[in-house]
Amino acid sequence: MNVVTLVGSLRADSTNRQLALNAIDHLPEGSTAPIFDRVAELPHYSEDIDVEGHVPAVAEELRSAITDADALIVVTPEYNGTLSSVMKNAIDWASRPYGMACIKDTPAIVLAASASARAAQWARADAVRTLQVAGARVVEDTLGVGSSHEAFVEGKLIDPEADATLRTLVCRLVPAPVPAV
Ligand SMILES: Cc1cc2nc3c(=O)[nH]c(=O)nc-3n(C[C@H](O)[C@H](O)[C@H](O)COP(=O)(O)O)c2cc1C
Repeated sequence: MNVVTLVGSLRADSTNRQLALNAIDHLPEGSTAPIFDRVAELPHYSEDIDVEGHVPAVAEELRSAITDADALIVVTPEYNGTLSSVMKNAIDWASRPYGMACIKDTPAIVLAASASARAAQWARADAVRTLQVAGARVVEDTLGVGSSHEAFVEGKLIDPEADATLRTLVCRLVPAPVPAV
């Protein structure tokens, strides 16, 4: 599988980034799973700069990565009750040009880590809705990791239940084998 991951926190020690890496670890062996690390370089979306032949290179790179991917993992912090602005902006870029969006029909899951015990419930709900409107085939179940500053040891998610849920969610991105005839 080729899976692209977007991380909506730019912080060096981001717990969302750690959660993303734990998710990638659950992909089938041999998968390619780059984190698209240029979300902060994407200009704020404007139709004035989304012009054929003049699209910013970084936006083209994002669109190509999603076009080439079998699936998308979206990992966002909750900022003031919703997904982070860099994540929303990346999804906005992936949702255009209208009718030709690279994200259309891409299977996707949403994960979030937040400092609060509510585990970024609003950010997850908003990310699912945004991805649905953008045209992705997003799984409605999500995983939220609360009190995230205590949830990882040496980068590993320590709660086995949360890790099992993560594995199950990641597996939902893997296409079912074609039955033998
Ligand atoms: C601008 C801002 C707004 C925040 N708003 C929320 C919030 O609404 N809900 C929440 O649970 N945490 C909120 N937080 C705390 C984040 O959950 C916390 O900083 C978390 O560690 C961010 O993820 P990271 O570790 O990947 O950077 C906010 C943090 C910032 C910087």
